[in-house]
Amino acid sequence: MRKKIIAANWKMYKNPRESLSFLDTFLPLVAGHERDEILIFPTATSLSTVIDRVEGTNVHAGAQTMHWLNEGPFTGQTSPTMLTSIGTTHVLLGHSERRLYANESYEHVNLKLKAAIAHDLIPILCLGEMLADRQTGYTKDTLLAQMGAALANLPTEKAQTLVIAYEPVWAIGTGSTATPDVADQAHAIIRGDLKNRFGPVVADAARILYGGSVKPDNVSALLAMPNIDGALIGGASLDPHSLALMVQYA
Ligand code: G3P
Repeated sequence: MRKKIIAANWKMYKNPRESLSFLDTFLPLVAGHERDEILIFPTATSLSTVIDRVEGTNVHAGAQTMHWLNEGPFTGQTSPTMLTSIGTTHVLLGHSERRLYANESYEHVNLKLKAAIAHDLIPILCLGEMLADRQTGYTKDTLLAQMGAALANLPTEKAQTLVIAYEPVWAIGTGSTATPDVADQAHAIIRGDLKNRFGPVVADAARILYGGSVKPDNVSALLAMPNIDGALIGGASLDPHSLALMVQYA
């Protein structure tokens, strides 16, 4: 049985003070909840504050991105060792908003993925098709191409901690949540590729999260599907009561 993950991607919201205010409400609402893993991905300027506040609780904090090198002349970047030095445990990689707005390629994601694993950061690899891909019947081709580029040359023994987040771009921030069946079909494609690439043990153990307009009123039906092992939530995770409800409904 795979332990589910409820993850909040706060994107570019919540300064350190707002993050602490959120946690002061949220942490008591989920205290003692050990059935699922609870992750929060704050902005870079709030990450250290959140990590310090959740220390010793059932909530962990991660970064929304990172560079693959440990240091260098890369303005605005953050290295894996800088993240681990402040207690970061997880990192999102390849989010569609970084591909769309920060020119991040899946080749970059591949380098970041290998660096994250090398530094014992748990990578959450984000991927998903555009609306045009789905409308033209290219969803499977797109997902397999993204998996191939992001996971290239990753040895099986290094894939043990890999978490995948399927986030159809047409569902992100739109309110057009994928139906549980549509999402589960995509997750099955991803899990099948993991099996072909790394074998049944890694594929069966890997958590595959769904992201894209997850709300308290749809999270249960999504997470009831056999290949959906959790959710990566944007807008609905910004309110502590909403996120706590989704943890309870998971
Ligand atoms: O990473 C999760 C995010 O992209 C989903 O956003 O607002 O559709 O839940 P949202």
